[in-house]
Amino acid sequence: MENVFAPNLLAGKAALVTGGGSGIGAGIAMLFAHHGAKVALVGRTLEKLENVAKTIRDAGGEASTHACDVRDYPALEKAINDAATQAGRLDLLVNSAAGNFLAPAASLSANGFRSVVDIDLCGTFNACRAAFAHLAKQGGSIVSITATQADVPTPLQVHAGAAKAGIAKLTRDLALEWGRMGIRVNAVAPGPVEGTEGMSRLAPPDVESGLKKRVPLGRYGTIDEIAAAVLYLVSPAGAYVTGSTLLIDGGTSLIGPGPFLDMMGG
Ligand code: HXC
Repeated sequence: MENVFAPNLLAGKAALVTGGGSGIGAGIAMLFAHHGAKVALVGRTLEKLENVAKTIRDAGGEASTHACDVRDYPALEKAINDAATQAGRLDLLVNSAAGNFLAPAASLSANGFRSVVDIDLCGTFNACRAAFAHLAKQGGSIVSITATQADVPTPLQVHAGAAKAGIAKLTRDLALEWGRMGIRVNAVAPGPVEGTEGMSRLAPPDVESGLKKRVPLGRYGTIDEIAAAVLYLVSPAGAYVTGSTLLIDGGTSLIGPGPFLDMMGG
């Protein structure tokens, strides 16, 4: 077996990351580039994508940017085709684009629910579908970012929880259909991760210290820790892993919805 701790684990590979303009998606893109992959960044805001691409290029890596919304299938398909043409191939897809906010189910509008499902679940399917033909050429790997809310009943998160649970099921179904075609399909479920838009939306600073104390490992995770889990799944070390969702949550899911109940005042 190759030394999985070697540098340049992804040399010769081309990757595409949705939601690559910030947070976890940007962290994954930068780690992939550090390991030698050509990286294509997809997101709604070109300026954010360009900032991440500049960081990658300044460090000696290769990055392209493709501004589009994962809800817009024709635009996303074009972005994926363009990225594969520019890099000459596409081996790795990471679905990190997501939308979220705290909202009580009793007052959440149908359009609010649909918007999050469209971005998270439909956007993930859209990218998998558009990338399939490229990945199938030489085999490849997909990792989608889900969340502990997919399994843990969570107040104020009915929209995101349903969308993320859908991603976990889609991951298993695609793994079954596409395994024989050489495509592995997995997911990573982060718990609270510091420095992300998600945490600033879900855990305002005034609830942060109480929240941190309840995480079994006593702290939030880091973007690098999530990116490392994704790297493991797409690397040779993960070659026999498909259809799995890897929890990287400091044990947060073990304590149920407690942190979110804190946010609601108990
Ligand atoms: C209630 C809300 C709301 C809120 C929006 N809506 N924000 N409802 N509380 N705080 C409703 C709107 O009223 C509208 O419904 C509908 O959602 C669509 O809103 P738009 O702003 O028109 O949609 P859009 O511009 O497409 O924006 C999508 C978005 C937005 C999801 C609503 O927040 C967004 O773009 N987010 C992207 C970035 C993001 O959220 N990153 C964090 C991901 S964190 P009506 O009925 O009025 O038309 C994350 C962590 C995962 O994913 C962990 C948990 C699973």
